[in-house]
Amino acid sequence: MPPGAHKPATAIYPGSFDPVTNGHLDLIARAAPIFDRLIVAVTKNAEKQHLFTLQERVEILESVTFEFKNVEVKGFEGLLVDFARENSARVILRGIRAVSDYEYELQMAMMNRKVEPEIETVFMLPALSYSYLSSRLVKELASLNGLPKGLVPDIVQERLRAKFS
Ligand code: PNS
Repeated sequence: MPPGAHKPATAIYPGSFDPVTNGHLDLIARAAPIFDRLIVAVTKNAEKQHLFTLQERVEILESVTFEFKNVEVKGFEGLLVDFARENSARVILRGIRAVSDYEYELQMAMMNRKVEPEIETVFMLPALSYSYLSSRLVKELASLNGLPKGLVPDIVQERLRAKFS
């Protein structure tokens, strides 16, 4: 490849997405035009108990990202950097909502760099209006029948209602 030539840039947007929120979708909408290919990579977080199965989370994400032609959704198990390498991705994309996210994200990014120095973590900011939104609070509110409209896609609202009814 000649010097300065553009290599197609694939980014991996990893997470547990349990469930996907409008904050995640906002980040996908911001990242999709920047990268040639964006893989939303759904996996388990060893520190969390998940409400939705991996298959359910993948299905939901597929249905809500359908309109983005360069976005794919994949489930994976194992190390994130291995998955990134297998998919020829040199970028890991993560969202930072507030300063409180930074410490955890910095630790993960540095550890991923230690394991695979060729892969860069890129941080993006979701819309300010989603800065307080988290999958954890969404689940808690839904379990208590108090989830306001507009925080998650309609399909997630329905799936949550079904889980907690
Ligand atoms: O949405 P989350 O739960 O904050 O995402 C965390 C996730 C899934 C990105 C992280 O737990 C992860 O990368 N898991 C895959 C296993 C791995 O590579 N662990 C080492 C992280 S330094």
